[in-house]
Amino acid sequence: MGPADMERAIAIPSPEFGSVAHALEPCHPRELYRALREPEDHVHYFEPAFHFATAAVTAADLPQELPAPAAADAYVRALVNAATIDAPPTHYARSWPTRIAREFAPAGLSDGVWLQGLAWVAHVENEIGMSALRQLMIRCGDPGTSESRPERYGALLRSIGVAPGVIARWELEELSPCSDISFEHALLGMALALFPTALRPEIVGFNLWMATVGPCPLLDRLAPELHARGASLTYFDSGDRTKLAELATEMAVLYCQEEGDGTDGARRRMSNGFYAAHESYRRWQLAMSGRNVPITPRQTVVDIVGRKARFAQGHHGRLRLGAHPMEELFAGGRKAHEELVAHLARSRWITPGDPAASPLVTTLISIDGPMFDIFTAAEQDDLREWIAELPAREEASGECEPIPLAGRYTAPQDAAGLARYAVERFRTADYRALLFHLVNADQFPAVRVFGRGLAERAIATVRSALQSDPRLHSQVPPAYSERAVAEIVVDNHARNVEGQAQAMAQDLSSAEASMLLDGCWLQGFVDAIRAGLEECGWLFRIYASEMGDGHLAWNHNYIARRIYESRLGTPPLPATDRRLFDDVRVGVVPVVYMSMALNTHRFLPELLGLNLAIEARGVCGWYIATWKQHVREGDRWAALYNRLHNSIDNYASGHTKWSLAAVQSFLGRVRDAAPSALDEQWQRVWLMWRLLEIQGFGTAGEQQALKEDVGTLARESLVPSVA
Ligand SMILES: [Fe+2]
Ligand SMILES: [Fe+2]
Repeated sequence: MGPADMERAIAIPSPEFGSVAHALEPCHPRELYRALREPEDHVHYFEPAFHFATAAVTAADLPQELPAPAAADAYVRALVNAATIDAPPTHYARSWPTRIAREFAPAGLSDGVWLQGLAWVAHVENEIGMSALRQLMIRCGDPGTSESRPERYGALLRSIGVAPGVIARWELEELSPCSDISFEHALLGMALALFPTALRPEIVGFNLWMATVGPCPLLDRLAPELHARGASLTYFDSGDRTKLAELATEMAVLYCQEEGDGTDGARRRMSNGFYAAHESYRRWQLAMSGRNVPITPRQTVVDIVGRKARFAQGHHGRLRLGAHPMEELFAGGRKAHEELVAHLARSRWITPGDPAASPLVTTLISIDGPMFDIFTAAEQDDLREWIAELPAREEASGECEPIPLAGRYTAPQDAAGLARYAVERFRTADYRALLFHLVNADQFPAVRVFGRGLAERAIATVRSALQSDPRLHSQVPPAYSERAVAEIVVDNHARNVEGQAQAMAQDLSSAEASMLLDGCWLQGFVDAIRAGLEECGWLFRIYASEMGDGHLAWNHNYIARRIYESRLGTPPLPATDRRLFDDVRVGVVPVVYMSMALNTHRFLPELLGLNLAIEARGVCGWYIATWKQHVREGDRWAALYNRLHNSIDNYASGHTKWSLAAVQSFLGRVRDAAPSALDEQWQRVWLMWRLLEIQGFGTAGEQQALKEDVGTLARESLVPSVA
C-alpha cells in the first residue's frame, strides 16, 4: 500500500467544527500545548488539534508494511517487537541528562491523557472503555491509592531544580524551558484524547506504544545517572509499568478481536497509532542527541549565552571580544553567540583547562565581580566544565542540522466566532437533541461552548430563586469552616435515617436519560493533568467508581440498562446513538449536568456542591426501602441498583466521604491562595447543595416555590443569547 492508497483507505470521520473564521496565523507547538492542557477553555483549538492528530496518524513516512496477518495476540506482539530504538549518544556534557529530563516534561506532565476520551460516559460502557478506565486509574492515581504519573514527573522535575509550573507557563521565546520539538512530541497524545469517536483505533495503538516501548527509552537509559544526582525517579518505577504494558497489550488484542482477524483497515489504523507514537519519539530522541539541544559543554555555554542575550544587551559598553563589540555579538543571534563563545575561549578571561585559574570564574562572577550570580549554580558548573575541556577539539562547525518540526499546524478558530456559531447551531435544539450532542461532544466541539452559557443561565436562575423568593429564604449558608460543612453532611445522614421506611417512587416504565448517565457530571475530572489536585483526584475516583472501576458488570449505567431491559424487553440503545434520546425521558437536569461536566474549570464549586448532595442522598434512607421493595417485586437489577448505591455512596469511607473531602480540599486551597474569595466560593458550593436539599427534604411550601421559580423554566431562558 503506497502513501496515497493509505490516505484513501483511511477515512477518518471529521467532527463538526462549523463554519467559523480562523486566526490569521497557524498555531505553534508551545501555543497548542498550552491550549490543550486546559481544553475546556480552548475549544477554538480543537480543530488544529484534530488536524495535528490526523496528519500524524496518516503521515506518509509511517511504515507501510504491517506485520503478517496472524491471530490478534501474535499480531500485537509482532508490532511491539518490531519497534526498535537507536542507541543514544555516549559522550555528552554533565548537564545533558537533566536537560533531557526537562525536555521530556511536556510529555511526562501529560502522561495518560490520550486515554481520557475512551473513558467518557458515551464510550466507557464496553470492554475497551473499561480497559482504558483501568489504565487511567493507574496513571491518574487518586488520593486514596497513589499519586498520578504527571505528579511523579513533577517530582522528578522538582528534584532537578525545575518547577513543573514553568513548563506550561507563558515565556519569552528564547527562555522557553523546552525546545519546540519537545512540545510537539507531547501533542499527539493530547490531541488524540479529544476525539474518541473519530480516532479510537489510533488511540489504542498509541497507548500500546506508550505502555510497551515508551514512554521514554532515553530516560530509562539515563536513569542511573539521574539517580546518582538525587533525582526522584518514581515515574520510571517498573511495578506499574509492567501492569500498564499488560493492560495496553490486552486492550490492543481485544480491539483486533472486536474488529475481526484480518480486517486490514482496522489493524492498519491501530498500527498507525502505534507507529505515529514511535515516529514522534524517534525524531524527538534524535533531536535530543545534539541536533536541537546542546549536548557538548561548548554547546551548553552557547545556549546559556542565548538565554542571557536579551537582558545582557546594553550593559557591556565598549567591551570587545576579538575584533567584535560584545553588544553586537549579543544582538546577533545563534551564529554570533557561537562566535562570542569562541572568542571568549581565547580571551584573557579564560585559562584553558583550568577553571580555577580563569578570571571569568575567579573575578567576573565572584562576589567582587560585575557578574555575581548572573549565572545559576548549574550554569556555573557548565562554564567550569567547558573551561576544563579547553582547548576542545574543534567541533565540526555547522554541526548537524536540527530536526525540523513535522506536525501539521493550522490556525485556531476565532473564539468569539465559535461562540456565535455555537448559539446559532444549537439555539433551536430541544433537550433531546441537546443532550445527545453534549454526551457526544467529541463529535460536536461547539456544543461545549453552548453548554457553558446554558449552565451559567441555569445556575443564575437557581441563585436568583434561592436569594430572592421569601419562601426559599429560610436558610442562608452558614459561615464556612471544615467542621460546618462536615456537620451539614452528618445532619443529612440523620434525616436520611428518619425517612428510611419510605421507598422512593421509581417510574421504571420507560427509560430515563438521567439514569443512563449516572456520574456524567463528573466526566470532566477524567483529567490526568489535574488528578494531582486533591479535589480533582477525589472526583475522578468517584467517577471511576460510578463507571465500575474497570468492571463492566459494576458500571452503574450498565446496571440501569439491565433494569430497563428486564422491564421493556430490550436494552436501551448506547449513548452514542441519536435514537436513544428519542426513546427515553429527557428533562433539563441531565442537559445542565452534562453542560457543567464539559466545563468543570468554570463550574468546579457548583459541581462540588452538586456532587456532595447527590452522593449523600438516600444513603441509609430511601435506598434501603426501595431496594427491599424491588426484592419483593423480584426485580433483581433494580434491587441491585439501590442496594449498591446505599453502600457505595456511604458516609464513612464511600462516595459521600470522598465528596466531602473534595469540598474541604478545594476550599482549603482557596483559603490558602485567596482568603478573601472563600465566602464567595463556599456560597457557590452551598447553592447546589441547598437546591437538592429542598428537593429532598424541603417543606411542601418550599418545594412548591422551587417548582414555580425553577421547575417551570422556559427552555428559551436557558439558551445563551448571541453575544
Ligand atoms: Fe451511581
Ligand atoms: Fe455515587
